[in-house]
Amino acid sequence: MNLLIMGKPGAGKGTLASILQDNYHITHISTGNIFREEIAKRSPLGLAVENFITKGELVPDELTNQIVKSVLSEGDFPNGFMLDGYPRTKDQAMALDLILAELNMPLNFVVDIEVEDDVLLQRITGRRVCSQCNTIYHITLHPSTKIDVCDVCGGELIQREDDKEESVKNRIRIYNQKTEPLLDYYRQKGLVVTLDGRFKREDVFEFVEMKLGVTHGNN
Ligand code: AP5
Ligand code: MG
Repeated sequence: MNLLIMGKPGAGKGTLASILQDNYHITHISTGNIFREEIAKRSPLGLAVENFITKGELVPDELTNQIVKSVLSEGDFPNGFMLDGYPRTKDQAMALDLILAELNMPLNFVVDIEVEDDVLLQRITGRRVCSQCNTIYHITLHPSTKIDVCDVCGGELIQREDDKEESVKNRIRIYNQKTEPLLDYYRQKGLVVTLDGRFKREDVFEFVEMKLGVTHGNN
């Protein structure tokens, strides 16, 4: 199954994707994670995008489209893929249509995670992520067993550079301006399904079964 996962910063895109990857083996592709990994490596791509990310600005479309095209062309997706955080602009949505048509990999659903604005800041400011394996935690909503240590791999938990209030507000503003309108485009294609952003783990299984039509463990 091929999915897009959409939602405001802090809506729970990465959290949902990790549940779906672990339980349904759908491959998680997050442009944000790709960029952050390149920044950590100090690669030329990382250095080129660092400033945009820290300020909460979008990385230019051409660069982002090239990366997604190469990941989708070179990867192997036996159970499909989930794009988390892409597309974010009309230009990216058009590019994605072309890429998927060329690769003959149609989209099945666009999952839109809906969350009230006042929850987003609380979620983002309390978020911690593993510096090694990207597992997502929250200091009160979803804490690790040992403070600042990843339960999965023992890596150090850190705060993202772009999780400062100024940058978060910018990310939300840009989402409303440039990304939200894409939902209408996908609604017209009949692809959008909505998930309440207050989801618990078990709600995700019900959602997948009821809305995406997949039985747990069958994929
Ligand atoms: P990206 O990494 O995609 O960030 P984002 O869209 O701002 O979203 P977040 O990762 O902040 O939130 P999330 O929805 O994944 O929430 P999470 O699951 O972590 O992009 C970062 C930057 O990269 C962009 O600003 C841009 O610069 C660049 N970029 C990326 N893609 C690009 C593109 N296509 N074009 C151009 N530039 C691009 O959850 C948040 C917190 O809430 C966690 O602590 C979690 O534990 C908690 N939580 C989540 N769900 C629940 C729940 N159901 N109940 C309780 N707590 C929950
Ligand atoms: Mg994320």
